[in-house]
Amino acid sequence: MSATLAADEAVRRRQAEGLSTLPLAFGQAGLPVHPRLRQAITDAADRNGYGSVAGSAELRDAAAGYWRRRGLDTSPAQVLTGPGSKALLYTVLQAVGGDVVIPQPSWVSYAAQITLLGKQPLRVPTLPRQGGVPDPDRLLDAVRRARHIGRDVRAVVLTVPDNPTGTLASAATVERVAAIARQLDLVVVSDEIYRDLVYDGSSRSPAEFAPERVVITSGLSKSLALGGWRIGVARLPAGDIGDRLRERMLSAASEIWSSVAQPVQFAAALAFDEPDDLTEYIARARHLYQRITMAVADAFTTVGAAVPSPQAAFYLYPDLTPQRERIAAIHHIHTGSDLADVLFDRYGIATLPGRTFGESTDPLTLRICTGMLTGNDPQQRAQALRSTDPLALPWIADALGRLRLALSELTR
Ligand SMILES: Cc1ncc(COP(=O)(O)O)c(C=O)c1O
Repeated sequence: MSATLAADEAVRRRQAEGLSTLPLAFGQAGLPVHPRLRQAITDAADRNGYGSVAGSAELRDAAAGYWRRRGLDTSPAQVLTGPGSKALLYTVLQAVGGDVVIPQPSWVSYAAQITLLGKQPLRVPTLPRQGGVPDPDRLLDAVRRARHIGRDVRAVVLTVPDNPTGTLASAATVERVAAIARQLDLVVVSDEIYRDLVYDGSSRSPAEFAPERVVITSGLSKSLALGGWRIGVARLPAGDIGDRLRERMLSAASEIWSSVAQPVQFAAALAFDEPDDLTEYIARARHLYQRITMAVADAFTTVGAAVPSPQAAFYLYPDLTPQRERIAAIHHIHTGSDLADVLFDRYGIATLPGRTFGESTDPLTLRICTGMLTGNDPQQRAQALRSTDPLALPWIADALGRLRLALSELTR
């Protein structure tokens, strides 16, 4: 099972035993459904036919408009929908075929999906604070070497902005990787599910730099907290590469999920049209996640961890290596896995070690997700979204206090 989903189940088991737990492992957006979307899905409940495999005309039209507003000329024919962007990512990788480069570290499912397709992922390290995008020089070198020994490398995956590190690669890095992909004739799969949660709104897509070869995946699981509705969209490039991929992806989709639930598609079309009230919800969500994530980053830097400053969504990737001697001497913690185990068993704080994200060793890094710190129930979460001072809300203040206490004990 996926490491993140397994961590979520461990948290549920602990909670079922009545033990209070801080859930910082699973990448869930902890906010309520916007009332407009709740109404939309109810209004569309009678849409019980299967519908088109590619997705309804209204949803593809709305998603094309969403990308056009972000400077990417897009026709509805370039859009495919699926039950979450995760399913679409798998069908893109399958449709491309061949070997795939992924960033190191990177979101757990890329490597797992590539393994399911019978291949070994090629991991290329990222540069500091450029999470989600392989170091361009090492990418060039790794693909050349792999081809030299007979591997058929055809794609590179990027996460812009990034989970696990919460950082956003610069436009210059994205542009260089796009140029190298063109030089090496690679398809770029750009996972932009967190794009609308970049704190300063500055995200750039590789599709701006190599439009003929970039597939973008996105969805509503994070910006509108609709993970359980299972809806994702893919934007294929216009032209030959896109046409070929579209045919193969449609063929896989028609044999696996047929179509996405029609009421969900109806509500998603409304969301991708970006009416003012939903745009305001996302702006508030972004601000709330930023406040909480920065406070958690501060808790780690206070005890001497190195933390790349989070730039998007609800992730951070603290590294406790600067404190390694103390932690080892007092607590016998030598690796990130030890650290995550002690935090969970002794303090009830669920995190994931960096190793889960494909680090080649087991460094003293943790991937922290702050998305569930917004509240313990829908009322608290709604209150957090409205609050002008979320860090003062008792449940958020308590969670931060508990984390600070555990970290100070571990590093004392
Ligand atoms: C980087 C990244 N891509 C994709 C997904 C999956 O999103 P979806 O709910 O659209 O399948 C996640 C969810 O955790 C993610 O972190």
